[in-house]
Amino acid sequence: MFWQTKERMRKTYGLLAEIKAAGAPMEYAIECSACNQPANDFLSYKCPSCGKPLSVKVRDGFDTEKVRAKDYSLWRYAHFFPYVKNQEIITLGEGWTPLVKFSENVYFKLESLNPTGSFKDRGSTTLMSGLHKLVKDKKGYVAEDSSGNAGASIAAYAARAGLKAKIYVPETMPGPKFNQIQFYGADVTKVSGSRDKVAEKAQEPAKRKFYIGHILHPLFRDGLRSLAYEIAEQFDWQPPSKVFLPVSAGTLLLGIIDGFKHLAESCVIEALPHVIACQTGQVSPLYHLFKNLAYHPPLKITSVADALVSVDPPLLSLMARSLKEVNGEAIVVEENEILDAFKELAAKGFFVEPSSAVAYAAYKRQLENSETSTGDKTVIVLTGAGLKTMLEP
Ligand SMILES: Cc1ncc(COP(=O)(O)O)c(C=O)c1O
Ligand SMILES: [Zn+2]
Repeated sequence: MFWQTKERMRKTYGLLAEIKAAGAPMEYAIECSACNQPANDFLSYKCPSCGKPLSVKVRDGFDTEKVRAKDYSLWRYAHFFPYVKNQEIITLGEGWTPLVKFSENVYFKLESLNPTGSFKDRGSTTLMSGLHKLVKDKKGYVAEDSSGNAGASIAAYAARAGLKAKIYVPETMPGPKFNQIQFYGADVTKVSGSRDKVAEKAQEPAKRKFYIGHILHPLFRDGLRSLAYEIAEQFDWQPPSKVFLPVSAGTLLLGIIDGFKHLAESCVIEALPHVIACQTGQVSPLYHLFKNLAYHPPLKITSVADALVSVDPPLLSLMARSLKEVNGEAIVVEENEILDAFKELAAKGFFVEPSSAVAYAAYKRQLENSETSTGDKTVIVLTGAGLKTMLEP
């Protein structure tokens, strides 16, 4: 599908260039995703007037000439993250992950090979690069809530930045992720009850504490734009027709959509890929909202996909709106399909988390139902490493 006509986008960017020439706008803005109110400051994570999530809006169009071709990390796209100063980048070498051909037209994007073992490092590097000086200047520490991977990632990047981190996690967090967070030197607090309770605890005000929760903070979500840039660039700016990805709190989904939209609006790609949001039967609020169905979450989540736990994600309406806007699709898979997909991937050499196998299970389901074809150029995002799983063979 054509996102916008090239003509229309040239008009938009022509206009932006004019305003810029008049000396008015900055290269970016952080503003409310609902009412466009600007954020109070860099540390804000909610709209100051309506409380809805904030988003980063980059004013400049994407220009392939501005890619730092010899930087084999996310920071090859530094120009498009204008809120980060070069000398303040906090990096562990994240991004530019392999895009591996799996079968004739199917490619895996190996996000599991990021420094802490998941795609979350894309968000942590932009977030921590943007904020660490501010927090340090205030002699503060950072607080985060997470089901595991984001906590490990934030802990690692805080360590790299020389900041103390306090990570709030659900009581049920799998051992390897819990250990990983501790080895990075963060304080970990286990919280009983729902995922919402964990977030509430992390947000409780305390002296010198700066809540930088990855779900709400716009600078984290924004880093995930880079995944779209990489997929497009690795295909020589001829993006695939379909992208499958697992969805829980929606940062990955929103980030990748923003990235592809930025490329399309800048006329770097002609059409947006069809984005397919994959959820588990137990945790599927987006699927239900997208299909106008009522969602009743289980009392207890027991899915093997233990990273996908957001039954009531704060970004839900934004996720549904964005997915509709790009003519995407939502799909749900069941436990047996996830487990089969996880085992099949491992048996073929791709050892990923069961939560990541959700996207492959969804692809298989679509193939079986003839909703996708082996002729479609497809990317499946493998979001996290298998070494994090608690499952036993
Ligand atoms: C391995 C893995 N895959 C997918 C997701 C879903 O990402 P999001 O919460 O941004 O939807 C997560 C989130 O924790 C994850 O850890
Ligand atoms: Zn608002």
